[in-house]
Amino acid sequence: MVFGLMKLRTATLDDVPTLQSWDREVHVIDASGDDDIYDWAVEVPRIVDGREFLIAEIDGRPIGMLQIIDPAREESHYWGDIAPDLRAIDIWIGDAADLGRGYGTEMMRLAIEHCFAPPEVTAILIDPLVRNTRAHRFYERMGFRRIEQRMFGADDCYVFRMDRADWIAHGKG
Ligand SMILES: CC(C)(COP(=O)(O)OP(=O)(O)OC[C@H]1O[C@@H](n2cnc3c(N)ncnc32)[C@H](O)[C@@H]1OP(=O)(O)O)[C@@H](O)C(=O)NCCC(=O)NCCS
Repeated sequence: MVFGLMKLRTATLDDVPTLQSWDREVHVIDASGDDDIYDWAVEVPRIVDGREFLIAEIDGRPIGMLQIIDPAREESHYWGDIAPDLRAIDIWIGDAADLGRGYGTEMMRLAIEHCFAPPEVTAILIDPLVRNTRAHRFYERMGFRRIEQRMFGADDCYVFRMDRADWIAHGKG
């Protein structure tokens, strides 16, 4: 798939209207759990230990969003009691017109590389809703393995995991 250069950068206050409009997209609502709604104007400027908000841009155009956390350190403790040196990713493409064009694959490739850059990070976790079957295929293709089904609050989710060894076996791609 050929498109311009994709970059990940930290989200800023200027991105808030874009993030708010993406939250109104049906594909974003359908993939979101009950407690996944952020007040971006509050959360984007708030520095939280173990949490990053990254915007994916192609040739300067924002196309999607990533939240990356260290689940043992991040304040919400969404993942409960969990080992150190992990990362957990949330990903979404913003505009429905940008779905299914390979952008998500490139976003995940860059995000995984970013997560594994610190040598102590052992694995990456993702928790799609059980009903989000297209996302399951997407993660499996990227080299994630489904390890369990669990409830996060009212949300019935699968947990997918990519160990550092899975990443290397998958050609880091
Ligand atoms: C999952 C997602 C990030 C993938 O990005 P993408 O750019 O659409 O995906 P790519 O073009 O790189 O790869 C295509 C694959 O993505 C997945 N995909 C495509 N459209 C999708 C959609 N509307 N919803 C969920 N997954 C989709 C499918 O696995 C698809 O493969 P398929 O055609 O064999 O079904 C993107 O589809 C998305 O933002 N979906 C809605 C939000 C979401 O589900 N996020 C994950 C929550 S855990």
